[in-house]
Amino acid sequence: MSSLDQSVFASRRQQLAQAMGANAIAIIATREEMYRNRDADYKYRPDSSFYYLTGFAEPEAVAVLETDDQGELCYTLFCRERNRALEIWNGYRAGIEGALAQYGADQAFVIEDLDDEIISLLAGKDKLYVRFGQTKKFDVRVGEWCHAVQLKQRQGDRAPQHLIQLDGLLDEMRLIKSADELALMQMAGKISAEAHTRAMQKVRPEMMEYALEAELHYVFGQYGGVPAYNTIVGGGANACILHYVENNQMLKSGDLVLIDAGCEYQYYAGDITRTFPVNGKFTGEQKALYEVVLTAQLAAIDATRVGNHYKLPHEQVLRILTEGLVDLGLLKGELNELIETEAYNQFFMHGTGHWLGMDVHDVGQYKVNGEWRAYQEGMVVTVEPGLYIAPDDESVDEKWRGIGIRIEDDVVLTNDTPLILTKDVVKSIDDIEHLMAESR
Ligand code: GLY
Ligand code: MN
Ligand code: MN
Repeated sequence: MSSLDQSVFASRRQQLAQAMGANAIAIIATREEMYRNRDADYKYRPDSSFYYLTGFAEPEAVAVLETDDQGELCYTLFCRERNRALEIWNGYRAGIEGALAQYGADQAFVIEDLDDEIISLLAGKDKLYVRFGQTKKFDVRVGEWCHAVQLKQRQGDRAPQHLIQLDGLLDEMRLIKSADELALMQMAGKISAEAHTRAMQKVRPEMMEYALEAELHYVFGQYGGVPAYNTIVGGGANACILHYVENNQMLKSGDLVLIDAGCEYQYYAGDITRTFPVNGKFTGEQKALYEVVLTAQLAAIDATRVGNHYKLPHEQVLRILTEGLVDLGLLKGELNELIETEAYNQFFMHGTGHWLGMDVHDVGQYKVNGEWRAYQEGMVVTVEPGLYIAPDDESVDEKWRGIGIRIEDDVVLTNDTPLILTKDVVKSIDDIEHLMAESR
């Protein structure tokens, strides 16, 4: 069971039902199990939106939310039947009994009955909300269910006439985090920060990237957490590969190592990047570039405030990075023109952040009515500028080549100053060098 009280999930269902209006039905399935190899699956992780509404973490489950003419909600959960033999092999199942007693369902059926039962649940509803485009198989099934209701027209049944993308409503709900959610994200941030601190303390020249990865995952595991996404440990020029996850090279003295790793705690993600010297001391060039990225990151965090539009931190980052690149001689030209022509793209080719929540790249629109949306209290966003000087970039002096730096923190929008969930891991050059010296 989740550490969130069942009443949290019940009130989310109520909120969604209200947004759906009267005489509507929403069908939401969790993810399927993922095959790994031979007879082994990946460890199961439920679909975030399904879990957000149900608190139910088993595979093979479908939630149906119906509203009647008065807008009153009825919640039906389809799930796996209890089965003593299978439970001995594969673990506990809530079954119909659990769906009713523990998970707040008004009615529950075994998943095998879905095709039969859904027809009568659909009949006569005006609006059908589903998450189109999740899997082809599910989209086809929804079409078949609607068709089956239509075939019963002569008995007076009518399939929903309005098919609506459910994600529109759900994503907006998920975008604004409640106090309960922020408490979990605070934990995800703290654990992630502890893991990065440990990595700074444990790293040694000639260590393998994967061994350092294991130090981070060790911390996640101590709290019952898992990696929120594939951990990136990039030594030297590997840091210039944005999604480097092989993590199979040796870390060298004199190089930096870039670690992008976050803990998923109770289904909420942390997402931190830190870049630090393998031997504990930054070189002159590394320091110079690092200071530029850090200045940009601090300015961007400061711009992450309620009322500012989503792209403002990114615009600050582009200006500061471009200025820094000119100062260091990596770009030549007039500042505004370099920004306008996106000259920085050579060294900074990604955005400055993204929504963070149950998914690392969390749901929620970035634009509303064609405009970058304004930050609101309860949103959580990452701030992650970087500079990456490709190892084969002959347009710059050799001394810069192969240096990759990113600094990333998780920030909550509050009505006061930005709240940094990941502040427990140091990021100034002095603090990093000091921490690393202490652990040697
Ligand atoms: N770790 C993925 C990202 O920073 O976007
Ligand atoms: Mn990120
Ligand atoms: Mn990241």
